[in-house]
Amino acid sequence: MCGITAFSGRKEALPFLLQGLEKLEYRGYDSAGITTVESFGLFTKKAKGRLQNLKYLLSEEEVKGHVGIGHTRWATHGIPSNLNSHPHTNNDNTISLVHNGIIENYRELKEELLKKGYQFHSETDSEVVVHLLDLYYKQTNDLFTALKKVINKIDGSYALCIVSTIDPDKVYITKKDSPLVIGKTQDASVAASDIPAILDYTKDVYFLNDYEIAILDKENISFFNQEGNPIEKEMTTIPYDNEAAQKAGFSTFMLKEIFEQPHAIQETLRGRVEGLDRIVLPELDDMKDQFQNFNKAYFIACGTAYHACLVGSHILERLTGIPTFTQAASEFRYCDPIVDEKTLCIFVSQSGETADTLAALRLAKEKQCATIAVANVLGSTISREAAHTIYTCAGPEIAVASTKAYTTQLIVLILLAMYVSQSLGHQSDEYKKLIEGIASLPQYIENILKDTQTFENYATYLKDQHDAYFIGRGLDYASVLEGALKLKEVSYVHADAYMAGELKHGPIALIEEGSIIIAAATQPTIAAKTISNIQETIARGAKVILFTTQGQELKNVCETYILPDVHPILQAIIVAIPLQLIAYYTANLKGCDVDKPRNLAKSVTVE
Ligand code: G6P
Repeated sequence: MCGITAFSGRKEALPFLLQGLEKLEYRGYDSAGITTVESFGLFTKKAKGRLQNLKYLLSEEEVKGHVGIGHTRWATHGIPSNLNSHPHTNNDNTISLVHNGIIENYRELKEELLKKGYQFHSETDSEVVVHLLDLYYKQTNDLFTALKKVINKIDGSYALCIVSTIDPDKVYITKKDSPLVIGKTQDASVAASDIPAILDYTKDVYFLNDYEIAILDKENISFFNQEGNPIEKEMTTIPYDNEAAQKAGFSTFMLKEIFEQPHAIQETLRGRVEGLDRIVLPELDDMKDQFQNFNKAYFIACGTAYHACLVGSHILERLTGIPTFTQAASEFRYCDPIVDEKTLCIFVSQSGETADTLAALRLAKEKQCATIAVANVLGSTISREAAHTIYTCAGPEIAVASTKAYTTQLIVLILLAMYVSQSLGHQSDEYKKLIEGIASLPQYIENILKDTQTFENYATYLKDQHDAYFIGRGLDYASVLEGALKLKEVSYVHADAYMAGELKHGPIALIEEGSIIIAAATQPTIAAKTISNIQETIARGAKVILFTTQGQELKNVCETYILPDVHPILQAIIVAIPLQLIAYYTANLKGCDVDKPRNLAKSVTVE
């Protein structure tokens, strides 16, 4: 996801711009660039790849200028390349801007601008903004008025920082649905996509609301509302230093990442759902006609991503009728799988580097299978080697135990299943309900995240246990597998997940007075069956924590958490949140190192 820096001050802008971009590297990016306002005009330099490449180019120049903007780009529209990198400049090279977000109506705007004779140099949605600004500036002769007109014209999300030779001392800034923080030092005004980028310069910051405008110069920051009237903004003093800032005030990365899920899901959905009945996945457009040829689909991954696959395969089969199989990559690669060109293989990996998943991908390619990767890390090996890649937009996941990567993987796998179904011409009412539900997910999750006290309380049941039993059926079985994995990974409580219907074929022998059962019964067609299995454990002395929906008949359950009324498929995402939090709080109560559990690695690049 893109990162932005901006500076107007008494000193050179470049050092601030580059150190800020460095601090934003965690957001992930594939190119970087800067513009400074020099005495002769605008100086812009961009480079594909790491920030180091840009720094190398800049070391060969004498960059002067007390005003400037910087950008790291995470490709959305257009491949990573020098031309697609930001900043983008108008045709006269008098205005330059950086953008984070997606301009959803850029196609129409581009058409209009092309007709007016504007020349485009990139494939990005962002470039339309600079030409539009140029057009309105030429009409109004005032950059501020032109920017207001731009805001009224563009749809989508944006944080924009603009420099120009028209107003050479100033940086114009506005935003909608994309983060941006502004700071004031003694001799400069600065801005960035996130606090760590400015924290070495100042702790005094301002947050812009959507559609507001800020104008930075070396002495002042002026704020304006959407109508263009001056407003006062309250200054906030950040109470922590840079190291803590990376955790955004949370005590651990895991907790921060759990709380980032509504945003990560929103980012992953952005631009991929059109209206109430169309999934947009341009990454797969050129294989659309192939879907009817597949006679089976394999979902392959490791760890948490494997659990995402269990959910994904269930949904693909349900929505498309294509028979699906799920296999751990470490098994797939050695089981001599019966796959061929009629097999669709889907590989899911947060890091995109897991050795077993990569080996399984290479084997599938050798066997002529069609391959799709679902990855979070841009440019990772798996994402490069798969024939098609769909990215989750979870942002960097630092805690070893995967949380936001998992729920965003589920989002992509649901979108993928719907996309295949749509390409096969299946459209049903269920499909519309699902799309409606998906759009509301971030809000439902926000609400669950307000209940941390409840989950901390549930964790007190677990903190002194050696074992915990997770049970569920159907999709809920995949969810409890992931819940049990989370608990054992971070709290070292031995946790196993069972299909609720299988309890009586063995595991129930382990249940005794005080055993802890965590049950998910979120699927309306089978919830009552799971609840009846719960009664069998309660009769043997178990204490049960149950996640279910309104209207189930419950007796003697210790704790019941009622989940929101969403489409059953989406319950797999919803129930993941409390299960993550229970694991987190159990580990926390036990004093475990939540972010770096013993013996585990974030990215397992060895077999
Ligand atoms: C490691 C991590 C897990 C992760 C698994 C797969 O075991 O500790 O959290 O789920 O690898 O990683 P991937 O990057 O392929 O999703």
